[in-house]
Amino acid sequence: MIEFLALSPVFDTGFKLYRMIEVIKEIEKIRHLVEKKRAEGAKIGLVPTMGAIHEGHVSLIKLACEMTDYVVVSVFVNPTQFGPGEDFKKYPRNPEKDMRTIDSAGAHCIFSPEISEMYPGEYSTYITVEELTKGLCGRSRPEHFRGVTTVVTKLFNIVDPHIAVFGQKDAQQLAVIRKMVDDLNMTVKIVTGSIVRAQDGLALSSRNMYLSGEERKQATVLYRSLCMASEMAASGVTEPEEILGKVREVITGQDAAKIDYIEIVDKDRMTPVTKISDSSLLAVAVWFGKTRLIDNIILNGKNG
Ligand code: PAF
Repeated sequence: MIEFLALSPVFDTGFKLYRMIEVIKEIEKIRHLVEKKRAEGAKIGLVPTMGAIHEGHVSLIKLACEMTDYVVVSVFVNPTQFGPGEDFKKYPRNPEKDMRTIDSAGAHCIFSPEISEMYPGEYSTYITVEELTKGLCGRSRPEHFRGVTTVVTKLFNIVDPHIAVFGQKDAQQLAVIRKMVDDLNMTVKIVTGSIVRAQDGLALSSRNMYLSGEERKQATVLYRSLCMASEMAASGVTEPEEILGKVREVITGQDAAKIDYIEIVDKDRMTPVTKISDSSLLAVAVWFGKTRLIDNIILNGKNG
């Protein structure tokens, strides 16, 4: 089934004319459409999302539009990457608003399959990246990355994009996907989009909408502490523990904050470093009430 939705105006001459974005739910249909575009010579971009589209996603879509001719945005809340007791059921879903935002960002098509389309009853194949998934988020969310790499592989197989764009905010996810692409000789090029922040520095995330007013205010400590760490590294501190101690102190100064992890790791291997270098990544995961937020910064290096 192909759904069309009247969305953003292409021009306005008194009568409003609207451009339509295609929303496709079936694997065979999206495959067919993308194959046709490819055959016409179009370079294909994919931006995988779970919906609840915000300006962070918009920047990834715009990046894909700059680099390719035909951009598919997938919107699929992937059940296999949520653990028991996590927020799969209450994950924000707003398909109409998402469609409008994705359309105005310039994408050409939305792939939004049902769960039964992606994981039919007899489904039993999963992709696991071994080492990179053990630490950081993998410690408290042991099944998470297996779900991510499985669905991302399926999306790559379905859409067969030239490039796929992922955000730096999920730094471990990005490293895991890069490793999978490399290990499995996939041809897709992985492109990284920079973290987009609110004016007060909080990294945009679909989960920010769970925060109460007070938690939202306290959560700004994350970016403040990352900036402090970055300044310490820039001023010559090379001992990870010296920086980690300060970051811990600043974050625990907020009474709503409960640290899941604060670590300085190598940005590709995701393993702890003994000396700070330009490939060191400070990664944090902190609970504010019932909401777990992640953020990161590359110390002494390029953050995009
Ligand atoms: O980053 C996300 O939103 C998800 O993990 C992804 C990559 C869309 C896979 O479901």
